[in-house]
Amino acid sequence: MNQKLKKIRQIFIALILIAAVKGFSSCEKYSFSPPAVDQKQTWHFQADIQPIFNGICITCHNGKTQFPDLRSGKSYASLKSGGYITLPGETSKLYHQMTTNSAHIPRSTDTQKLEVLYWINQGALNN
Ligand code: HEC
Repeated sequence: MNQKLKKIRQIFIALILIAAVKGFSSCEKYSFSPPAVDQKQTWHFQADIQPIFNGICITCHNGKTQFPDLRSGKSYASLKSGGYITLPGETSKLYHQMTTNSAHIPRSTDTQKLEVLYWINQGALNN
């Protein structure tokens, strides 16, 4: 009799464990994962930000029609002198355009937007 009870208890515990694992994995499926952008990492203008401009902005921001001029070698001076990068980054014209202008929003990914924001908030250095 005692043996039988033990067996039943073992089966019961096994069932609870299976249910728990199932439950956790189904939570995982719907969990929100923010873009992996490390706010504490140092963000560099030349290595991190300029490549974003090169890929998706310079078709229009090429110094001829649209300002700021975002071409390599011109972009930092153009952004600075035009007052496009000011602190805090959330209110800077550059980040503001990328996140609120409906024509600009889809041009960059969430990750790229955050990289620009963190770079500005780290002092917007020409690093
Ligand atoms: C298809 C052309 C096009 C592309 C690509 C483009 N822009 Fe623009 N951008 C414009 C136009 C047009 C304006 C001016 C009118 C406006 O504000 O919508 C502008 C204006 C701006 C301004 C200035 C806003 C102000 O207040 O003076 C910034 C900053 C800017 N863009 C950043 C970017 C960045 C960063 C990218 C790349 C992620 C980008 N743009 C890609 C067309 C473009």
